[in-house]
Amino acid sequence: SEDKYVLGIETSCDETAASVVKNGVEIISNVVASQIESHKRFGGVVPEIASRHHVEQITLVIEEALAQAGMTPEGLSAVAVTEGPGLVGALLVGVNAAKAFAFAHGLPIVGVHHIAGHIYANRLEQEMEFPLLALVISGGHTELVYMKEHGDFDVIGETRDDAAGEAYDKVARTLDLPYPGGPHIDRLANKSDGAIDFPRIWLEEGSYDFSFSGLKSSVLNYMHNAKQRGENVSPEHVAAGFQNSVVEVVTGKAVRAAEQYNVRQVIAAGGVAANKGLRTSLAAAFEKKGIPFYIPSLPLCTDNAAMIAAAGTVMFEKGITGNMAMNGRPGMEL
Ligand code: KG4
Ligand code: ZN
Repeated sequence: SEDKYVLGIETSCDETAASVVKNGVEIISNVVASQIESHKRFGGVVPEIASRHHVEQITLVIEEALAQAGMTPEGLSAVAVTEGPGLVGALLVGVNAAKAFAFAHGLPIVGVHHIAGHIYANRLEQEMEFPLLALVISGGHTELVYMKEHGDFDVIGETRDDAAGEAYDKVARTLDLPYPGGPHIDRLANKSDGAIDFPRIWLEEGSYDFSFSGLKSSVLNYMHNAKQRGENVSPEHVAAGFQNSVVEVVTGKAVRAAEQYNVRQVIAAGGVAANKGLRTSLAAAFEKKGIPFYIPSLPLCTDNAAMIAAAGTVMFEKGITGNMAMNGRPGMEL
């Protein structure tokens, strides 16, 4: 069969991205326009501002992705776009751009779940082996996903409150660190010579769910009490204490799930998978168990459209396509 070139489009949060991927495995072009600078002064993503930036950028980003690939729309097999979950106004910009592009060029359109995209980022760097366990850990999600085969997603655990990245960003804010705070906490934690002892939230025995709001509250209480007593707070010790708790619980649950489900491969995905402490801990734990473990390189861990094209290619090959009635689905389930 002939080669498939899929255009991916991603606008679910604060990156406007487009990419061309060949056969679901090879990046031909990958363009990401980040809005982080515009949201920084608000300490988080402002939905209305995100939508407006997407509208300004989307056409340019798609053209740039095609130009960098040296392709015209005629060379494409399909258009894949993030259908959900995410900010509704942001999603709609990508979905409508994809529909217009697909209609204009007579191409099939594929609606992709953002988390499926994060998981399939791995396939752009190594072949996926099934059964597989994926840890998706980002600003919006913390999930353990079991996969029997391509395109088959079984969520075996998820956060009951904050996503890990959200907790990182909130803790960072109380330490007066800029948004997004994850990388700053990571940096402070790694150079710290000590750590505050914060609780590990394991939930009921056997559960693969996560909870980060209690940990976040412990950190906020600690900061508040120290301030009231007029004590100095070491940002490094707070960052390290918070990170130790996240890393220990996430590693513990991922390892237990991998063993119980007897998987052949474990992959991590999402912005928080960029965390040095977490990468080191997971790599060491799976090495000890003899289970192959991969994390995509940094640009593929955070939001991008190559991952959407990769996941979309698998769906397209299975014949799962959308139509011109497609809409943004903020609460879409995997
Ligand atoms: O996957 P992503 O780019 O966007 C979605 O949420 O879908 O993830 C962004 C999140 C932010 O919360 C950011 O603080 C976090 O990933 N993050 C990190 C690190 N780098 C990014 N968290 C902890 N350590 C890091 N090194
Ligand atoms: Zn994401």
